[in-house]
Amino acid sequence: MYKLDEIRNQFPMLNNKTMQGQPLVFLDNASTTFKPYSVIKAIEEYYSDYTANHHRGDYDLCYKVDMKVQEVRRKIANFINSEVNEVVFTSGDTEALNLIAYGYALSNLKKDDVILLSLEEHASNTLPWYRICELTGARVEFVDLEDKKITVNKVKEAFNKYQNIKIVSFAHVGNVLGYEIDAKSIAKVAHEHNAIFVLDGAQSVPHIKTDFKDLDVDFITFSAHKMCGPTGIGALIGKYELLQKMSLFKTGGGMNVKFNKNMEVIPLDAPNKFEAGTLNIAGIIGFGAAIDFINSIGIDNIHNYELELADYALSKLEKCKDIVIYNKDSKSGIIAFNRVGVFAQDEATLLNSKGIAVRSGQHCAKMIDEVIDTVATVRASFYLYTSKKEIDVFVDNLINGGDILDAYFK
Ligand code: ALA
Repeated sequence: MYKLDEIRNQFPMLNNKTMQGQPLVFLDNASTTFKPYSVIKAIEEYYSDYTANHHRGDYDLCYKVDMKVQEVRRKIANFINSEVNEVVFTSGDTEALNLIAYGYALSNLKKDDVILLSLEEHASNTLPWYRICELTGARVEFVDLEDKKITVNKVKEAFNKYQNIKIVSFAHVGNVLGYEIDAKSIAKVAHEHNAIFVLDGAQSVPHIKTDFKDLDVDFITFSAHKMCGPTGIGALIGKYELLQKMSLFKTGGGMNVKFNKNMEVIPLDAPNKFEAGTLNIAGIIGFGAAIDFINSIGIDNIHNYELELADYALSKLEKCKDIVIYNKDSKSGIIAFNRVGVFAQDEATLLNSKGIAVRSGQHCAKMIDEVIDTVATVRASFYLYTSKKEIDVFVDNLINGGDILDAYFK
């Protein structure tokens, strides 16, 4: 039994907040999520009760911080099923992908090598690879899609079509259409062709069980703020032997054993060799509390609940005249739609005036118009605390909005 009321009571942002003078209905959870009191309290405790740096002191406070950071690394490793030393703290999904690009791809790719992406990737899983191509002479190719989806067969075809694919990098769950890929099979195909497989988990790790060892991918990246954690913190999970072989990315304090006047630097082992500078300690502590919170509900329960919400919303939306849905068959809490003849941003602005927060546009996936034949969509995205009542408000306003927009455009 999913205890929605109990869950909702734990979020200050769900406590009588308004937007445009209307009760707030937040349906932009693929962009970011609300934080429960436990996360806020964990961060506050660090600032109020045991502020000190990490790895930089021989006193009790510092030791406590070291232990907390290591505890969170362990929690992340348990959550994603990796080894503890395979967890690198980053500022988020974007920095994690850049770390792979600059730490791995820059030193392993050469002219005419290929990085395989899809047209559905968001900017963070596209632009770092473009930059690597500029620097190395490698190039990006795009996998063909089957009914808007990345399939194992199409990935196999890409390997037959393009020589020298060295890196395959896809979102586990797309941020516009919410389609989940068969990451385990794609990793197998990539490995059979001596390529590595990067799984962008920004939209999957917060919603579905994502098992690093079972999927046998080389890297997974994700952000805490999309899973009830703070902004500015995330993780790169990488196979240890790859992390050890990777070049340094950021350098500075905290990532080296020793350096001398001959410019010789001995870095620490992974993961610390990538963690230069003072860590986002408050963020890490909040991240740990977010994982505890998600574990207290259960990731499978969260996923099943989101599917129930999506079914509920779709069954209601299908009755709305003039609404086109682009991903009815998506098994996620993401719905991308448009009202016929209405620009997505206008629709989102109208919903805003009713207190409803959705995202409109291309959602950072700026090639998506090549996949769904529209320049922009409205995206409603649910999370573990979304209620059916909120979906009712959203759909009712869409139905009424049709009349308002009809009146406006006529
Ligand atoms: N990638 C995030 C989104 O989909 C920001 O909204």
